[in-house]
Amino acid sequence: MSDHYAVFGNPVAHSKSPAIHQAFAAQCRQQISYQAILAPSDGFAASVRRFVAAGGRGANVTVPFKEEAYLLATRLTSRAAAAGAVNTLLFEGHEALGDNTDGAGLLRDLTHNLSFSIAGQRVLLLGAGGAARGVVAPLLEAAPAALFIANRSAKRADDLVQRFAGLAALSELAGGGYPALAGHSFDLVINATSASLSGELPPLPAAVVASGGLAYDMMYGCGETPFLAFARQHGAARLADGLGMLVEQAAEAFHLWRGVRPDSAPVIAMLRSAAPGPAARR
Ligand code: ATR
Repeated sequence: MSDHYAVFGNPVAHSKSPAIHQAFAAQCRQQISYQAILAPSDGFAASVRRFVAAGGRGANVTVPFKEEAYLLATRLTSRAAAAGAVNTLLFEGHEALGDNTDGAGLLRDLTHNLSFSIAGQRVLLLGAGGAARGVVAPLLEAAPAALFIANRSAKRADDLVQRFAGLAALSELAGGGYPALAGHSFDLVINATSASLSGELPPLPAAVVASGGLAYDMMYGCGETPFLAFARQHGAARLADGLGMLVEQAAEAFHLWRGVRPDSAPVIAMLRSAAPGPAARR
């Protein structure tokens, strides 16, 4: 008998989560089934209830349901509470534990796969939507010298700074609009905006990535994004897309569900060698 898991999203047909979790299960010799479920935009909670009634043990949640999953959870991990969003659910009796593994996935990709040590570095986070909010707390826990949050709407960046100010004991934390970036450069620049999804580029100054710096786009599956092309043309030493983060957040969810931690490296390699799909982001 296998245990049932699923990813809920809309759209969800092109999700890589089924392939990732099936590869983890084969590697760890776990008997699970994993499917993609398209929930209607006004029917997420009802879809989840049906899945649990049919024996579902856990779920991943992707766009646009992470805030709804946060509201649906009966208990939250501290990182889900900090993020205000849930991407992983674990069903136990009448309880639904909500977790958020996106930040841990980003940190694991940066520190383990890309060997980038955040402590003492100057970090710039682009965007102040759900994707950015989910990674602020884990970034601050890694003790950068400074974390600056830049957003088209400066007010949203300022709101994020207020929300996380209490966690910034070891780091300078500030935020603002893109014009505030003039004259500043950063060792790590993370694009958490949805601009790459529409082939757009936030208005960045040419020297925003310090020489020797790393440019990281949370987007994956679309070749070089406008942000990564910009960073390469302006001297970034290293570029990374969000595929590693995708697999690492899944590994963290798999660990929560099954109590074993899969090896992500062969799964990242498998996805990199597969035919490219549509551009996507966690
Ligand atoms: P998500 O949950 O995927 O983060 P979101 O909450 O809608 O989605 O947030 C999208 C983010 O991308 C926001 O930070 C948005 O900036 P605004 O808050 O100013 O709208 C940012 N964004 C989207 N398109 C952009 C573009 N072309 N240039 C710069 N920022 C962009």
